[in-house]
Amino acid sequence: MNQPDNSPPACILVAGASGGLGVALCRELIARFPRATLLTVSRGEVQLAPTQSHLKTNLSDPESVAATAQWLQSQPLPNWVINCCGTLHWDGHLPEKNLLQCTDEALLRSISVNVLSHLHLAQALSPQLRRQSPLTWASLSAKVGSIEDNGLGGWYSYRMSKAALNMLVRNLSIEWGRKLDSCRVVAVHPGTTDTALSKPFQKNIAVDKLYAPALSAERVVSVIAGLQDSDTGKLLFWDGTTIHW
Ligand SMILES: NC(=O)c1ccc[n+]([C@@H]2O[C@H](COP(=O)([O-])OP(=O)(O)OC[C@H]3O[C@@H](n4cnc5c(N)ncnc54)[C@H](OP(=O)(O)O)[C@@H]3O)[C@@H](O)[C@H]2O)c1
Repeated sequence: MNQPDNSPPACILVAGASGGLGVALCRELIARFPRATLLTVSRGEVQLAPTQSHLKTNLSDPESVAATAQWLQSQPLPNWVINCCGTLHWDGHLPEKNLLQCTDEALLRSISVNVLSHLHLAQALSPQLRRQSPLTWASLSAKVGSIEDNGLGGWYSYRMSKAALNMLVRNLSIEWGRKLDSCRVVAVHPGTTDTALSKPFQKNIAVDKLYAPALSAERVVSVIAGLQDSDTGKLLFWDGTTIHW
């Protein structure tokens, strides 16, 4: 059996690469693993390193599956995949404070970005996977997607879609756990980070609980680099501890 040995990854794929955490993660990965090939996927253009290959596609769109699969065929197989796609608010939508504020439109858009963009990337990658090539997959999720941790309520569409993402991650860990000799599939909560996603809520957050993107990226990469086989199928906090589903 081909066990991952926590050796540096030769090829890393980052999706949602244009966002606050996506860019910070790419920079951290380039600094830590300067010899690795960086593959990036985004709706826009992202150019951060000379040894980078980029695919412009919207992973929420079902057509991205074929486009991404075709592109992946011409790239080295990634050892690490980090998917940063996610949304909390947009023009005309803020997280719901109560049940009656939750619209079908907001829930469906949240699922499209928070779940389908991870599902589609997994569907594009899955046919390329080889039994003896170890894989580490991390979906950036959120603690508020934990059902067990939910003591406050509200934020219906974000919470429901992140809970669905968490189930996707768990299912992937099982399916790829059977398909591959070695894989680690996790959801990671990066901590409240100073990006466009958290902007409208930052005034309610203590200064020492709002983290710079570079710090969160460093923490997320450390969690991924330190993963053990026993971590697969878990939702992890930015310090590597387990958050109950
Ligand atoms: N910031 C925080 O405090 C915080 C806390 C907990 C969890 N998270 C999670 O961490 C991840 C990264 O968040 P971030 O803070 O970096 O947010 P961000 O700057 O808003 O970036 C989010 C990324 O999601 C993709 N995205 C957003 N809206 C989309 C849409 N309508 N259709 C398709 N793709 C869309 C974009 O990818 P493209 O590159 O393709 O444009 C964007 O780069 C998210 O999953 C978020 O839920 C963040």
